[in-house]
Amino acid sequence: MAREILKVENITKRFGGLLALDHVSFYVNEGEILGLIGPNGAGKTTMFNVITGVYKPEEGRVYFKGRDITGMKPHSIARLGISRTHQIVKPFGDLTVLENTMIGALFGPRHDTITEDEAREIALSVLEFVGLRDKAEMPARLLNIQEKKRLELARALAQEPELLLLDEVLAGLNPSEVAKMIKLLRKVRDEKKITMIMIEHVMHAVMNLADRIVVLHFGRLIAQGTPEEVATNPEVVAAYLGDPEMALKFVKRLRR
Ligand SMILES: Nc1ncnc2c1ncn2[C@@H]1O[C@H](COP(=O)(O)OP(=O)(O)O)[C@@H](O)[C@H]1O
Ligand SMILES: [Mg+2]
Repeated sequence: MAREILKVENITKRFGGLLALDHVSFYVNEGEILGLIGPNGAGKTTMFNVITGVYKPEEGRVYFKGRDITGMKPHSIARLGISRTHQIVKPFGDLTVLENTMIGALFGPRHDTITEDEAREIALSVLEFVGLRDKAEMPARLLNIQEKKRLELARALAQEPELLLLDEVLAGLNPSEVAKMIKLLRKVRDEKKITMIMIEHVMHAVMNLADRIVVLHFGRLIAQGTPEEVATNPEVVAAYLGDPEMALKFVKRLRR
């Protein structure tokens, strides 16, 4: 039977007068890939910031494996087994790819017992997994954008999370790089058995990868369901019509 790994209940987050999240509730089952979509400014990244403890919500609770983690500090939440990638990738440029990845391992659930050698071993294995093993000794600032996205994923994976939050890992990639990244994310699910929430604008990717999708619009959850249910939901289509590029992608998807 499906087991809930994460539940957010009634989350409200305000920035001054702006209601970035308005009583949002959803759940993620273990082993699932949940797509989190919505036009720019919908509150997607804010939701990740609430889940990972960067922001404290004004209302609502976040439960991870049944435990209330609302208001806990980000490093404590990371240690429980939640890691994330950032929409804007900022590796430590002067550190090597390997060192950047080791940082992930040192901040994960095993932070208190892990040795530097073990962290290096985990990092090297993760770099192999994401296809960056041959760049391990290179300063991170020399990586191109798709390599930086892979490094961001490697750092998050080195934390050995049970739940991985991906914030637009495909943004800025060309179509062939997108295809490779989708393959890699499948491998994360199938081989590492990590549950994922992916925020994504590349619609065919979410539609392909996600088991279920949650749609945010101006901070409100306007739809959730299977990719098919969501793609044909009139309120969802209408929300995207405000954003011509997204609307076009939606229409293309519907016509396929
Ligand atoms: N730290 C902040 N201070 C003030 N406003 C913010 C902050 N973070 C996000 N916002 C606002 O909250 C809304 C939701 O932003 P965000 O969660 O980044 O949207 P998305 O990731 O869906 O594009 C936007 O209007 C954004 O400008
Ligand atoms: Mg965002």
